[in-house]
Amino acid sequence: MELMEGELEKITAEVEQVIKDQGTERERLIPILQGVQEKLGYLPKEAMKKVAEAVEVSEVEIYEIATFYNQFRLNPPGKHQIKVCMGTACHMTGGNIIMESFERRLDIKEGETTPDREFSLERVACVGCCALAPVVVVDENVEAKVRPTRVDGILLGFDMEKKAAEKEMQKAASEQKTQEEEG
Ligand code: FES
Repeated sequence: MELMEGELEKITAEVEQVIKDQGTERERLIPILQGVQEKLGYLPKEAMKKVAEAVEVSEVEIYEIATFYNQFRLNPPGKHQIKVCMGTACHMTGGNIIMESFERRLDIKEGETTPDREFSLERVACVGCCALAPVVVVDENVEAKVRPTRVDGILLGFDMEKKAAEKEMQKAASEQKTQEEEG
């Protein structure tokens, strides 16, 4: 995943701070990674590299830990987080088809984030409302009995929201320009 402007500086500063707080003992590795994730929202590979250097372990070892424990995420959380339930009830009622629909529409795989960081897609275990299966949690909202057509609807809704916000910003910018010109 490509870093955004200024992100490398932020990663460097946050990793240094966590290392300062936690120390560089090998047994502090997991709390260090947890601390970095807490600060950055995920574990970018640049951060794992810096942790590896500080603790003097190989990058491969850090990567293995990060992928073994599912508390760690390797991709940044999207602005909108889509969680497809893959518990038994949801799986039996077509959760995998819903996951595939999101993957196709967003052109990413489960566990990934779109390059513009608008959406991240992940699978979750039973979210506790099996009667509504198959279920998708979009940001904080539970979408019930989701069909592939609803996948299009959800994404279209965000697309329209984004376009409306862009329009508003353009309008505000042009109003400001007019005001400046007038005066
Ligand atoms: S299995 Fe999906 S809500 Fe329970």
